[in-house]
Parts: sequence; structure tokens; C-alpha cells
Amino acid sequence: MYSALRRLLFLLEAEQSHDLVMATLALASRSKSMTALCGLLAGGKPPSCPVEVMGIPFPNPVGLAAGLDKHGRAANALGAMGFGWVELGTVTPRPQPGNPLPRMFRITEHEAIINRMGFNSVGLDMFLKHCNRAHSHLLKGINIGKNAATPLSRAADDYLTCLEAVYPYADYITINVSSPNTRGLRELQQDHALDTLLSRLGRKRHALADSHGNRVPLVLKVSPDIRADEVDAIASLLRQHQMDGVAATNTTTARNQVERHVLSGEAGGMSGPPLREKSTAVVAALHRNLQDEIPIIGIGGINTAADAIEKFNAGAKLVQLYTGFVYHGPGLIREICHELSSGQPP
Ligand SMILES: Cc1cc2nc3c(=O)[nH]c(=O)nc-3n(C[C@H](O)[C@H](O)[C@H](O)COP(=O)(O)O)c2cc1C
Repeated sequence: MYSALRRLLFLLEAEQSHDLVMATLALASRSKSMTALCGLLAGGKPPSCPVEVMGIPFPNPVGLAAGLDKHGRAANALGAMGFGWVELGTVTPRPQPGNPLPRMFRITEHEAIINRMGFNSVGLDMFLKHCNRAHSHLLKGINIGKNAATPLSRAADDYLTCLEAVYPYADYITINVSSPNTRGLRELQQDHALDTLLSRLGRKRHALADSHGNRVPLVLKVSPDIRADEVDAIASLLRQHQMDGVAATNTTTARNQVERHVLSGEAGGMSGPPLREKSTAVVAALHRNLQDEIPIIGIGGINTAADAIEKFNAGAKLVQLYTGFVYHGPGLIREICHELSSGQPP
């Protein structure tokens, strides 16, 4: 059924079909019966494969990656489709339109996407209004970023504003310093900048944990375009600042896998199968350093159950989908959970 729907959706430009689907799912998310219908149409509940990571009891280890539901409007319907949890955002403190259109391209032959959305965001106030409508039993990660207009030297202020605002709504919070589409953002992954950022976020979290009476886990989301020595530096800082998880990876600026494609020259981050090996390599490198001390969320190019198992074997404790979900629909969540529940532990 999903392949027929996909054929229709792919008649529209990438962002148009994305907007149409998200508007429908947002509407469905406002009604319990429509949300339940989304679950039924998606094929019912996936096989149970519960796992506890960062102290959170996930019903299954397959989550929705950030960026699909940037405004937090469709969480209920997406959750009903079988995801173990949804990661909402990236949200920025103030609303911003993101980059000019077109900014999302399907590389259909490779089942990939290139995007340079640039954190289009409704801003914190509206985002949190949407989050308020999400069912309380649905687990939510919230992914936070900085406004494009905020100079890099003040970036930490934006992350702190977001951290404080989303804290009561999130089961965990992801610090996104790895999007290639906000100028300079990836520089925040570098040693000194990251040290300063994590130290300020760590202190703020400490204060928030005291005032709210619960310690919400913090996860750092990293780029696939980092060198081995950078992976080690990041791992040390994660330990030093008592981060609770690391998400590997965001999209890549590399194009070697799609070199001859007519759209390969489009600026932005690429996702889907051409990213798979690169992101798995980062998961493996992080795991060599961190062992099981800090859990890893494996993301990038998961299109089949075997791709997910590859991430688990490299050291991931959880996985997330974006592009594979676009190309293969909710059946992919079931396929992975089925594989996991029929023997292979994550
Ligand atoms: C159109 C699009 C928008 C994205 N927006 C975000 C975002 O706002 N924040 C973020 O952390 N990652 C974002 N991502 C990255 C995904 O969360 C994921 O890390 C990446 O696409 C690799 O996974 P995949 O190959 O399964 O798509 C976006 C990806 C795509 C395709």
C-alpha cells in the first residue's frame, strides 16, 4: 500500500509532498480516533522489543529522526505508526523561515535526499504549544538549535534558551551542532567551542534538574564528516561533561556516492543509503572509545532491517530513521522490530 501512496506523493516536489503529508498527520494528531486510524493503516503495532537506554524504557529501539516533524505538530500520528519514540525539531528560539526554496531534493535512483532547509522553525513558543497536544505516554526527544541570525560567539545563549524552555516537555534533549545548513554551526563540534558549550549546558541542566526534580538526559548529535581524531576529542568531552548519549549522525556534505547524478551539485546535507557506511563508521569509532559508557543512537541510511542490525553491531543501542521512512514507509519500523524480536538482540 505504501508504495502506491509513494508513487502519488513523488509526483509532487519533495517539499510539497512533505508539507502535504505533515499537514495530514498534524490534523490526524489532534483526534484520538484519527491517530488510531493512522496506526491501523500503518499495519498495527510492531512486534514488542523493549529496551532501556539513558534510563528511558523505550517500547522498541526504532525512533523517528529529527527534521521530519520540525514543528512538533504530528507527534501523535507518527508515534501511532510504530516508532518507539519521536524526535521533534530542530527548534530554534525565535521563528525563522530557513533557506529559500527549492531546498529539498530526492535522489530517487539512490533512495537519498539532499536538503538545505536551514532550520525552518516556528520558534519555541509555537513549538511548545504543539508539544502540549502530544499524548503523555508518547516518548519524545526534542532537538534544539540556534537561530541563523545569532552570531556563533552567542550560540550557547540560544541553546540555553531552548534547553530551559523544552526541559519540561522532553524525555531527552538533543543538542544539534551538526547540521551543514546553518553557517558555522559545525564549528561548535570543535574542541574548545564544544567544551564551552557543553560546560554551560551541563551547568544549566544541573540547575534545571534541581528545580524540576528530574534529570532529563542530554544527547549530542554529530556530523558524519568528522575525522577519527575529532571523534576521540568529542568522546572525551562527552565523558567529561557527563552527557547521556550521542546521536551519530546527521547528513553528509560528501557527494562521492552520487557523483554523476544531475542533482549531486545541490548544496546541503545528503541522507539515505549513500550516507550509510560513513555514519556506521562514526558509530563504530565512537563505540571503540566510549564502549557502553555512553549510549549511541545510530542514524544514517537505514533502509532495511539488515542496515539497522549493522548499526547495532557497530555499537548503537537505538536507531533512528528519516530517509528510509520516506522511501519505505512505516513497514520499515515493523521489519526492523520483527528482525530484532526474532532473535537478534540490539
Ligand atoms: C529534509 C531533512 C531535514 C532534516 N532536518 C534535521 C533537523 O532539523 N535536525 C537534525 O538534527 N537533523 C535533521 N535531519 C537529519 C536526520 O535527522 C538524519 O540525521 C539524517 O537524515 C540521516 O538519517 P537518514 O539517512 O535515515 O535520513 C534532516 C534530514 C532531512 C532529510
